[in-house]
Amino acid sequence: MVTRHQVLVASNRGPVSYSVGEDGSLTAKRGGGGLVSGLSAVKGDAVWVCAALGDGDREAARRTGGALDPADTGGQAVRMLDIPPSVFADAYNGIANSVLWFVHHMLYQTPLEPAFDTAFERQWRSYETYNAAFADALAEEAAEGAAVLVQDYHLTLAPGMLRERRPDLRIGHFSHTPWAPADYFRMLPDDPDGGVAAQVLRGVLGADRAAFLTQRWANAFTECCVRLLGAEVTVSDDGEMVVTHEGRETRIGVHGLGADGDFLRERSRRPDVDERMASLREQIGRAPDGTPRKAVVRVDRTELSKNIVRGLHAYRRLLDERPEWRGRVVHVAFAYPSRQDLAVYRDYTAEVSRVADGINAEYGTADWTPVVLHVKDDFARSLAAYRLADVALVNPIRDGMNLVAKEVPVVSDDGCALVLSREAGAFAELAEDAITVNPYDIGATADALHRALTMDAGERAERTERLASAATALPPTTWFTDQLDALRG
Ligand code: G6P
Repeated sequence: MVTRHQVLVASNRGPVSYSVGEDGSLTAKRGGGGLVSGLSAVKGDAVWVCAALGDGDREAARRTGGALDPADTGGQAVRMLDIPPSVFADAYNGIANSVLWFVHHMLYQTPLEPAFDTAFERQWRSYETYNAAFADALAEEAAEGAAVLVQDYHLTLAPGMLRERRPDLRIGHFSHTPWAPADYFRMLPDDPDGGVAAQVLRGVLGADRAAFLTQRWANAFTECCVRLLGAEVTVSDDGEMVVTHEGRETRIGVHGLGADGDFLRERSRRPDVDERMASLREQIGRAPDGTPRKAVVRVDRTELSKNIVRGLHAYRRLLDERPEWRGRVVHVAFAYPSRQDLAVYRDYTAEVSRVADGINAEYGTADWTPVVLHVKDDFARSLAAYRLADVALVNPIRDGMNLVAKEVPVVSDDGCALVLSREAGAFAELAEDAITVNPYDIGATADALHRALTMDAGERAERTERLASAATALPPTTWFTDQLDALRG
């Protein structure tokens, strides 16, 4: 008999991934992040439903019939769905990453894009199939009246589909990205089935509770519901917005995921981080007067929304307009490749390297490399950079939250000035003690870098302390259990 679960989480990427060795053996690698720590706080019986992302995952899913070996997952029950590769590719690369991600991050900014054609229709059908596979699995795994927390833009249709299959469940949906403004969101195709924008909204409204990282994204979502669906929005006695559509109510929650302070403080003091700090310090080097050079640090997955290239241009402008910084500062940029199946991501990754090389060729000297770019993901080295940063540059053109902005102040050794985009979700919580910028404005970003680099040490330390306490206000475990309580309540 199948064990039925009281708490279910569904997300595209699960808490573990597999690679296949040459001898056919499987190696499991556990991931981190808010959901992993959040779910660990759940007492009792829970399951995580996710998709097999690559060949290793597929092999693991096949060998286990989808119910992964708890030895690989730290004891967590995980059901991994083996979705046909072509359906998965259409749903993930096609709709989720090339359409919904672009719309929510407002990345279509050329006269040629987007252009929805026949490929779109096929991809959309796959996205429906992919969401239905999740809805089927969740319907099978859930105990009577269980709470189901569906994550993100990959799974916008799943809440509605699950409600049809299992009206007894309490269903939540959480968006980890921004939500697009109505005027932008409605660029999604009018076909099939009465419009993609409306289908996405209806899918999410299939949940009892739809939650967001900030009030701004929640407001954008409700605005879309009103303008594109004709839904009604009211405010409940306890102050939450409620969307009513076709006779059903969906509560709107806001839960601003914070940094995991305890974990970060402990992890960032381990010997492997100390080692990497020593080697980074060597790469950064000393100014002609013998003092250590200042470090402007950024750490990102190379996503188009992270704005790494404009960040490099701003740094170049700083060197150009304020020659006093030449030889006295290093831009330590960690840009870890992501979604390399997509040409536009590969091109962007190449552009980051090209611009960094250009700055080094133009300004570098025999003993000074202005930009130190690393692209190989190394968590310990990221923490080392956080600890020694004088300035952290977080300038996304749009970002659901941005945890780097929250993590740096928590682990910083001597205080770090934060240059923060006003378009990051974290802006809502950190604006007061950050130096805030319009991410498109390269000149203003260069000025902000100068201000950050010249901030008095006392002020910098005080601001960092306040930033750290704001950043850890809602640790992942509370973030998760708050949602669960609200859903069950
Ligand atoms: C970012 C977003 C998340 C999203 C994730 C997916 O981190 O903030 O909302 O779920 O990307 O990344 P992936 O590598 O799985 O495409």
